[in-house]
Amino acid sequence: MPRLGTATAWRDAARCLVHVAPSDIDWGWQDAPTPMFDEPLPPARDLTVPKAFAALSRLLMAERSGQGFATAHTLLHRLQADRGLLSRRADPDVSRAERIAKEIRRDLHKMHAFVRFREVGDQSQRRRFAAWFEPTHRIEESVADFFVNRFGDMDWAIITPEVTTTYADGKLSQEAVPSTRPDDGDALEELWTTYYSNIFNPARLKVDAMTAEMPKKYWKNLPEARVIPGLIAGARAQVSAMQAAPARPARPRIVEAPFAPQTLGEACAAARACTACPLHCNATRTVWGEGPADADIMIVGEQPGDTEDLAGRPFVGPAGQMFDQSAAVAGLDRGACYVTNAVKHFKFVQKGKRRIHQRPARSEVEACLPWLMQELTLVQPNVVVAMGATALHALTGSGTGLLKRRGHWEETRDGRPLLITVHPSFLLRLPDAQQRAAEIQAFQNDLRQVAGLPK
Ligand code: URA
Repeated sequence: MPRLGTATAWRDAARCLVHVAPSDIDWGWQDAPTPMFDEPLPPARDLTVPKAFAALSRLLMAERSGQGFATAHTLLHRLQADRGLLSRRADPDVSRAERIAKEIRRDLHKMHAFVRFREVGDQSQRRRFAAWFEPTHRIEESVADFFVNRFGDMDWAIITPEVTTTYADGKLSQEAVPSTRPDDGDALEELWTTYYSNIFNPARLKVDAMTAEMPKKYWKNLPEARVIPGLIAGARAQVSAMQAAPARPARPRIVEAPFAPQTLGEACAAARACTACPLHCNATRTVWGEGPADADIMIVGEQPGDTEDLAGRPFVGPAGQMFDQSAAVAGLDRGACYVTNAVKHFKFVQKGKRRIHQRPARSEVEACLPWLMQELTLVQPNVVVAMGATALHALTGSGTGLLKRRGHWEETRDGRPLLITVHPSFLLRLPDAQQRAAEIQAFQNDLRQVAGLPK
């Protein structure tokens, strides 16, 4: 099988070989030693396979030793006479396939989580990023769509020892070329290392769990791994100091920006690689704020929804349309505002084909808070608008009593005037038309308060 185009090549060969006994076929990679007997293939046949087999066989193709090809063929061969084969998990061929697939899924997950881009090239051109990664299996083709979906709005290359994947001007290409690890450092790497040190919580340190999730073999390519041994060594002392310190009365936590990117672009690039909470695992991408970098008004929502997650922009779905219409009526120019969310990843549960929005947990809002504080620090808005309880919690430390606080002014954690209002999706959910019209009007009245402010 060729190194690229593997799944298609296997499918074409399997159509010819479906009725040949598995013991008569020697599957392997094109770069493996040539088999002793090399016979021409029999003619291809039309095949239909259960959906579950198509998904499973795609994973098996990536297995490094080449065992995956034979395993997939054995299943395909047996499926011709036994359509229910895949539902019998105890069958030795099925269980071998599942074991390999599980290993490949794990490798895919590691690559999704541990690829770290660095900016490359001169700044006069469109911004370009590159990442080096060493997957265990040959997953470069299977993983490409994930990175196109997540980083489709920038140019990048992911280089592995065997394949270079490039995405430029909206076009993906892959080439099987041997490469060695580049060793230059860069500013984004510094930012990431500092950020990791800041989110590291010594009281939550579980070395076994950490090395299981982030195995040591990936450490050499993770900028933050350089600080891990020091953080682990200091953790016990820090926890003792935390325990010995006198209890302090609860107060809204003022979160310091964890590191100091100079521009929104730099902060956004670092946020794309954020794994501080589990939401990055399922969301398509980090949805960063948008609008003028020196906007007078910053609008903060909860988190991207389904549409925003796919588009990579905040407030472009139904809640965004409700916001746009109300802002227009209130005389607020959205284009002049910086629009963002408290949480930058979409949280959902999958129900069939639908992704149902879930409210972010307190820990997820707090994990994302450094990014929101970065946006406040870099944009320096004169006023901020919190839409809904999650934004209010992020900006003030408490999201309770929204309906009593709405329409009033408070202060953000960093001391800026904050207008509180409801979230536009609250308006969309109101079933009663009259109540809805009244609430939309109240929302517009809230927005009028910021629309009319002097600059
Ligand atoms: N809801 C939000 O809070 N933000 C969005 O971007 C979209 C829906």
